[in-house]
Amino acid sequence: MSLDEDKISRGALETMSMLPPSPIALVVVGETVPDIITVGMVNLFSQRPPIIGIGVTTARYSYKLLEENDDFSVNFPTPEILSKVICCGSVSGSRVNKFEKCGLTKVPSSRIKSPKIKECILNVECKKIDSLEKGDHVWFFGEIVHGDAPASYDQKLALLHRDGLFWTIGQKLENP
Ligand SMILES: Cc1cc2nc3c(=O)[nH]c(=O)nc-3n(C[C@H](O)[C@H](O)[C@H](O)COP(=O)(O)O)c2cc1C
Repeated sequence: MSLDEDKISRGALETMSMLPPSPIALVVVGETVPDIITVGMVNLFSQRPPIIGIGVTTARYSYKLLEENDDFSVNFPTPEILSKVICCGSVSGSRVNKFEKCGLTKVPSSRIKSPKIKECILNVECKKIDSLEKGDHVWFFGEIVHGDAPASYDQKLALLHRDGLFWTIGQKLENP
């Protein structure tokens, strides 16, 4: 592709599908029987205070749990557990226990009641602070109260996604 190439106009949905891939997360919500939902809609919203948001549609079983509970964990997987990510994104927690069904390990969180996922490289514990309906998704905002990552943590291990395709991060660039 050349930067001199003429551009083609695109519809809104096609434009959205062309955005660069972004992280996929496994969100865990609930204390006694927690559910896991795969979300592509995950973003940072504030640094001070540290706020992360996840977008969930009202059709999801986890939407009900997000409404009922005061916290959730946002867990970032690696490509090694892609099949588990797809499993959590294709069955409903209203019918199955996804920790058992998808083969993930529940670990107690440090600062919140919802547990976190052992197999993910980065665990982010959030206290729910707000929610906002926008179009076909409801955004749940959480203040980050704790995080866990291994000493050897490397951002390029994270699994990315856009429009049905999964990616990993390419090359890290030196700042000019
Ligand atoms: C790659 C991928 C990304 C997804 N992203 C979202 C998302 O951002 N928001 C959402 O509501 N559902 C998303 N889903 C769909 C839910 O994960 C799926 O419907 C899940 O089975 C809902 O589980 P639950 O009924 O237990 O909440 C995604 C699924 C996949 C496979």
